[in-house]
Amino acid sequence: MTNSLDHNRKKTMRHFITFDDVSVAELKRILELAQIIKADYKAGKQKKYLAEQTLAMIFEKQSLRTRVSFEAGMAHLGGTSMFLGDDVGFGKRESTADFSRVLSSMVDVIAFRAKKHESVVELAKYSTCPVINALTDKSHPCQILADLLTIQERFGTLQNLKLTWVGDANNVAASLVRGCVKLGIEVVLGTPKKHQFDTETVRQITSFNPNYKLTQTTDPLEAVQGAHAVFTDVWVSMGQEAEEAARKQDFADYQVNSQLLTAADKNCIFLHCLPARRGLEVTDEVMDSPRSAIVQEAENRLHAQKGLLVWLLNEADENKK
Ligand code: CP
Ligand code: NVA
Repeated sequence: MTNSLDHNRKKTMRHFITFDDVSVAELKRILELAQIIKADYKAGKQKKYLAEQTLAMIFEKQSLRTRVSFEAGMAHLGGTSMFLGDDVGFGKRESTADFSRVLSSMVDVIAFRAKKHESVVELAKYSTCPVINALTDKSHPCQILADLLTIQERFGTLQNLKLTWVGDANNVAASLVRGCVKLGIEVVLGTPKKHQFDTETVRQITSFNPNYKLTQTTDPLEAVQGAHAVFTDVWVSMGQEAEEAARKQDFADYQVNSQLLTAADKNCIFLHCLPARRGLEVTDEVMDSPRSAIVQEAENRLHAQKGLLVWLLNEADENKK
């Protein structure tokens, strides 16, 4: 019996759960990889950077964009992926530690959309391969990678821009702030008082730079003044369905419509992670206007996550952050 088979391919071991898992240089490198990989893909020259690598995707909530972009992205890069829904019984059939140790022994990377942020943290604690946050109740960093890529493409830079978030200070908004704190980009939130980030959350999401000034105002018009990009998201996120009626009332004055956008910069773009509730947080007119970047933004999930996967599996230095 020979001993020539290589069963000891080293796995890199960095996670992507929040933007605090990467340095500024690493975040810029992920965005750079996304641009390079997108350009190659568009030119029909996609390199198979992830040949023979396997991604497992655990989803505790619904998804279109995240699921499809990860699955298509792995296929384009020469790897493979598997979708694990309710039937794997995360949190029900066995301990998270056992689940994580077993799953990570068989695959090279895991993406996890979890009801509770703590579940992703717990899974990562026991995983022997990288774990990617594919959305939790607290954050959605993969979305913000795509949003930053979109803004970079539209403006040619991420410098000297004002980004405004109108509506709920939710999971996506928290990741937007974390990413922008890291890159030194101004963010202003126009949010009803009771849905603003509280002091402790502001401390956490700006912890990379405690001097960063996050502006939260209850006046959406003031928030949008001179903005280069205006973001919104649903008023009722997955898991908040019981609060729907109250939330619709709370956010009634926070719709992104053409009138609100008259206060923005003349080149302002509109972003929404999608899915949208047209007629509630945003009008059809804005969604379908020339300043709407929503389809480019959604497509960029594919390219941004390819950059992330290639970085995590081929470049990330596990001794450094
Ligand atoms: N934006 C986003 O994450 O979309 P899905 O919920 O469809 O994945
Ligand atoms: N805030 C939304 C984002 C969906 C992509 C939610 O969590 O449901």
